[in-house]
Amino acid sequence: MVLHLPVPLDAILDRTVVLGYGRTGFRLRHRSWSPLPPDALRGRTAAVTGANSGIGKAIAAGLTGLGAAVTLLVRDESRGAAAAAQIAAVTAGVTPEVERCDVSDLADIRRFATGFVQRTERLDVLVHNAGVLPAARGESPQGHEICLATHVLGPLLLTEQLAPAMTRAASGRVILVSSGGMYTQTVPDGDFEYRTGEYHGATAYARTKRMQVALTPILSDRYAAEGISVHCMHPGWVDTPGVATSLPRFRALTRPLLRTPAQGADTAVWLAATDVASGRFWHDRRARPEHYLRRTAESAAAAERVWQYCAAAAGISAA
Ligand SMILES: NC(=O)c1ccc[n+]([C@@H]2O[C@H](COP(=O)([O-])OP(=O)(O)OC[C@H]3O[C@@H](n4cnc5c(N)ncnc54)[C@H](OP(=O)(O)O)[C@@H]3O)[C@@H](O)[C@H]2O)c1
Repeated sequence: MVLHLPVPLDAILDRTVVLGYGRTGFRLRHRSWSPLPPDALRGRTAAVTGANSGIGKAIAAGLTGLGAAVTLLVRDESRGAAAAAQIAAVTAGVTPEVERCDVSDLADIRRFATGFVQRTERLDVLVHNAGVLPAARGESPQGHEICLATHVLGPLLLTEQLAPAMTRAASGRVILVSSGGMYTQTVPDGDFEYRTGEYHGATAYARTKRMQVALTPILSDRYAAEGISVHCMHPGWVDTPGVATSLPRFRALTRPLLRTPAQGADTAVWLAATDVASGRFWHDRRARPEHYLRRTAESAAAAERVWQYCAAAAGISAA
């Protein structure tokens, strides 16, 4: 018998953070989920950024396992090839393609996307997973703060550049991998590049993850006419190489609670294979509130200012 987790209990799990974001939340919730059909994405194509490691590699493996032809977008092709071989080993020999694309570098995105759109018939799923949590302020080749470049500007430009291939799919899906850390932040009202004040990588990370959530409805509206839906999700707390490097103390304290990369990847894979309303924020296969704290809620005008700045910085028309 399947035990369905009632909505209020699920919401309480979410509020506890530790239980909801860790593997306990996943284990309690996943009992009520129907398994995805093994060929749910047969005949579809997908691209995943930051797919050589952690959650991105697990998302790519999950999509491949459902029958999609997946391209790993990575900044180091040899690490990408190693990840492709590991994915092939768990998906009956289906080896993903590997392409170089540094998502913090707007020029590299244009180079990659121009060729990809020409040689690819269609793109069904685009997952913006690549992420960084820097120890000190760094800048992209175009001079943008590195979290903003990686989490916001790169995904905006890559989506815009790949939209022609996604329009050729029946129902293109864009999925942004955000973070529960964004619940602590509101969108910045100016200083989007974090040039003033003492720089904290964790704040830069969470602010730009908040921007992803704030921009999701705007992107959803932007691409609706082209049949492309836009979704945002957070994976919970996941034991990955990124966490081991960037948050060693957090990992040491929480390790028994952390999810596996496949558990963290689950909702992104599910969103890729499931028809749900566009423009929402998801965790563990359920739409979640964008805010738990009143102080983090942004006005429509503030979200629009983020959009105007980021579109201009990414070099796309905001109209
Ligand atoms: N782990 C968690 O608990 C957790 C929680 C909330 C959200 N997330 C989010 O989940 C996503 C994956 O994180 P993870 O924990 O799996 O971290 P990870 O193991 O460090 O993986 C991050 C991936 O992003 C890639 N990447 C970084 N910058 C890139 C760039 N400019 N261009 C292309 N690829 C780039 C990395 O490539 P290299 O190998 O070349 O560095 C790596 O493959 C991130 O967006 C993160 O913010 C994770």
